Amino acid sequence: MKKFLVLLLFIAGSSLSVYAQKTIKTLLSPGKTTSVKVGLNKSGEAFYKITYNGATVVDWSRLGIEARGHNFSSGFKLVSAEAGSHDETWKPVWGEESQIRDHYNELRYRLANETDAMTIHFRAYDNGVGFRYEFPAKEKADNITVTNELTEFQMTADHTAWWIPGDYDSNEHVYSTTSISGINTAPYMAEKSIVTQHIVDTYNVQTPLTMRAANGTHISIAEAALVDFGALHLTADPKTLKFKAFLISTSDPAVKSVNTLPFHTPWRAVLLNRDAAGLLGNRLILNLNEPCKLSDVSWIKPMKYCGVWWEMHVGKGTWDYSGSQNGDGFKNGQPSGKHSATTANTKKYIDFAAKNGLGGVLVEGWNIGWENWFNQQKEEVFSFTKAYPDYDVAELSRYAESKGVKLIMHHETSSAVTSYERQMDSAYAFMNQYGYPAVKTGYVGKIIPKGEWHDGQWMVNHYVRVAERTAKYRVMLDAHEPVRPSGLHRTYPNWLACEASRGQEFNAWSKGNPPEHECILPFTRILGGPMDYTPGIFQIEVNQFDPNKKERVHTTVAKQLALYVTLYSPLQMAADLPENYEKRPDVFQFIRDVPVDWDESRALNASVGDYLTMARKEKGKPNWFIGSITDENPRDFTFKLDFLEAGKTYEATIYEDGPDAHYEKNPYPVNIRKTTVRKGDTLRLRLAASGGCAISIMAN
Ligand code: NOJ
Ligand code: CA
Repeated sequence: MKKFLVLLLFIAGSSLSVYAQKTIKTLLSPGKTTSVKVGLNKSGEAFYKITYNGATVVDWSRLGIEARGHNFSSGFKLVSAEAGSHDETWKPVWGEESQIRDHYNELRYRLANETDAMTIHFRAYDNGVGFRYEFPAKEKADNITVTNELTEFQMTADHTAWWIPGDYDSNEHVYSTTSISGINTAPYMAEKSIVTQHIVDTYNVQTPLTMRAANGTHISIAEAALVDFGALHLTADPKTLKFKAFLISTSDPAVKSVNTLPFHTPWRAVLLNRDAAGLLGNRLILNLNEPCKLSDVSWIKPMKYCGVWWEMHVGKGTWDYSGSQNGDGFKNGQPSGKHSATTANTKKYIDFAAKNGLGGVLVEGWNIGWENWFNQQKEEVFSFTKAYPDYDVAELSRYAESKGVKLIMHHETSSAVTSYERQMDSAYAFMNQYGYPAVKTGYVGKIIPKGEWHDGQWMVNHYVRVAERTAKYRVMLDAHEPVRPSGLHRTYPNWLACEASRGQEFNAWSKGNPPEHECILPFTRILGGPMDYTPGIFQIEVNQFDPNKKERVHTTVAKQLALYVTLYSPLQMAADLPENYEKRPDVFQFIRDVPVDWDESRALNASVGDYLTMARKEKGKPNWFIGSITDENPRDFTFKLDFLEAGKTYEATIYEDGPDAHYEKNPYPVNIRKTTVRKGDTLRLRLAASGGCAISIMAN
């Protein structure tokens, strides 16, 4: 208790001594649920404060930027405060809903001191706040070198937080759930579980950082429209409960970014909702992004796909041709006989896709280079236009076309990004020549140019360059191991998905993803954009090709089905092997039926890290789909189907955990039942430990 009082006094004391005293302006959201106050203290330093439903959620917190030879942090006077408002409904090319309302009031708080000028641009929404720093053009100096961002987020209590460590190079960590004061990344530094990890601070965490206050309010600190800047991480202060912005540096550790004026930073976003379900419908990050920059989007088509992929992860075959990774194997030119990406094997996948209505087939390991790729930081390892001798590109493109299936290209760059940049045009032209509409890129390993980070300005610009260049070639993009998405898919809708998190693959060769993992992702990483998680594993124990393999998927099969609805992506893989699906056609039917583009999405219930249930309406059709998942605890749910259309009857097919299902002891049984439903009917679901339920509700 004493410790608590001391902490309270400390927080009160620290905010009193610095808060804004003059030129305070207040901005209210359209429905007045959210307010932002901004002002200056005696030293001309800027501060802001956010309230939500009458309670302070971010107490007085510092604003400003440090840049060499400039003063964007103090001595400011208010030049003007311009208010504005905006109300527009826009249509995403694809998404969780077909219309999104962008409704906010805004304030441009224009500041100047003796040497510099800066505008802090705020937008207040009923479900959050966005702000960014804007720097006008200058006559003389046309560049600024940013060395630090001073933005702070002063929390008002020791909320529960779901976080992964502030890693410069990876997002592939298991989440921790602690209080803010309990944030400590030391165990991650010690475990070194990710091949390319760089965690330098005990208190640094990634954004979006989602927290729950005692009254149930959910707060997520994120960024939107990350372009030409280092990614935003946050440094927690366990004593004051304050987060400070931490920008990932360039190859010069003292420099965070170099920008040409005029310039504005990405948006800093604070998402605010009354509960976890509300957070799942929060489109603040998308709304803060620029509208679509592509004039023709007719070629952008969400799709399901399968691929020559999981079989390498579980050890049935290899990416490389000669059976020798980390060597000069291919120079010997001898096939090992284990190469997966052969013409014959790919045809098998094309046949499977054609038979089951999957739009695409991804093929990894088709191109030369895999003998030398892993964790070696080498240039010019991969060719993106030269296939291994047993992979006939022309024949496969002919065959795929004859079956109405598209091949998905794979470009593992092994983070030799300069090599990739040199090959980008020839690689995309090659894809055009052979009719590939989509590419999966990958950034495994340490970045070349040496010293750059996956989350730094140089790479942030690279990912955007790839989005722009692929768009020029009418190619859709799925990036693995990039920086976390920040809603840029609104601007570049050909950028369908990113991995940028710990995906299903970890279940094939590591301790895996704990049962709560998929119950955290939609509230954290996926707030910024769709994730290529690769759901749909039916063979839960992955020892099919190696009896000694102990790794496994930490869910039931029914939960794997439900993930197609709970983890939103316009690109969804049916990740398991065709032979495993062919053994269970009745269960696979759900994957055949589930769409990847929606008119409407509703969270029926949610608790971060515990469970969630999503209902979504298929785009342009009257059908609904439900996915419900739970963590390691079994749960019973009851729902009213009040979202269905009145007067219609529907056939619901319910794929639920079978009796005694359990993710460890009995993951396989799926009970399938059919029933006729109408608006207002009640559904009762029983989810096993780390189980789930998937339902298709087809209009008659
Ligand atoms: C990591 C990606 O996430 C995975 O999907 C891919 O198979 C490997 N890299 C090889 O590129
Ligand atoms: Ca990965």
